[in-house]
Amino acid sequence: GSKKVTMQRVRKAVLPVAGLGTRFLPATKAMPKEMLTVVDRPVIQHAVQEALASGIEQLIFVTGRGKTAIEDHFDHAFELEATLQARGKHDALETVEATNFPPGTIAYVRQQEPLGLGHAVWCARHVIGDEPFAVLLPDDIILGDEPCLAQLLEVYDRLDAPGANLIGVEAVEPELTRKFGVLDIDRWDADGTSFSAKGIVEKPEPEVAPSNMAVFGRYILDPSVLRHLDRQEKGTGGEIQLTDAIDASIRDGVLTYGHLCEGQRFDCGSKTGFVLANVAYALQDPELGPGLLPAIKALIED
Ligand code: G1P
Repeated sequence: GSKKVTMQRVRKAVLPVAGLGTRFLPATKAMPKEMLTVVDRPVIQHAVQEALASGIEQLIFVTGRGKTAIEDHFDHAFELEATLQARGKHDALETVEATNFPPGTIAYVRQQEPLGLGHAVWCARHVIGDEPFAVLLPDDIILGDEPCLAQLLEVYDRLDAPGANLIGVEAVEPELTRKFGVLDIDRWDADGTSFSAKGIVEKPEPEVAPSNMAVFGRYILDPSVLRHLDRQEKGTGGEIQLTDAIDASIRDGVLTYGHLCEGQRFDCGSKTGFVLANVAYALQDPELGPGLLPAIKALIED
């Protein structure tokens, strides 16, 4: 008899964290850029919490030199925890304990050379194995009611295809396509939130961009994308691009979709985005927001 081929559950997420963070020097001289804080937690913790809240079971960090602070952040801090315990600081203890996960939740893989995002993801191929996986670019954090990756996973489950790529997108001003991967739209769905794609291009100039549907840092990918990365072909900017491997998989017939996620995206890889993220997250914090709002207003009116 014919067995129905259903899609596999997405259990693993890759988080590339090997970037140098030169835009934030000198802050990032002795500290990874992912440890810069948005309000009270490092940028990287926002993506980690999003992934875990979305049901991801295993996180694969692609790291590099000088990134050990990230590993220490997501581990027991025995002396600190013991001290907080002894002093009865239970809230602080809880906060610290929430950054430590069951053994095996996080795997670390090194990217020895900065050869591009595609290369970073490829470095995790043995840990990913032959199953669909998510990619979260931690520079992008998304403020909203439902975790962004959870929204994508819901759409993905509804696809119920044996293999597919699903990519979070947002509409950008046409002149900004040169900063993003951009999808070539095949057909929109009835409610206008998802579309099938017939291609994807890395950082096209506005004149040649196939649309203004830009990729921000959330993907669910078919493992066949990794086979295209095996070729280590260089693309835009001389880098091994994840975008090119996805495009090749589309050409192979892997169904690929873009989805407009709800929520407000902040690019913490830029100073403006980082500062804005801090303001936005602080304003919606019940403890900070009420005091901060009038203070910001006063600053602006001055
Ligand atoms: C990367 C990807 C690009 C994507 C962007 C989102 O570019 O290559 O396709 O749109 O992230 O932030 P980067 O910003 O690393 O140059």
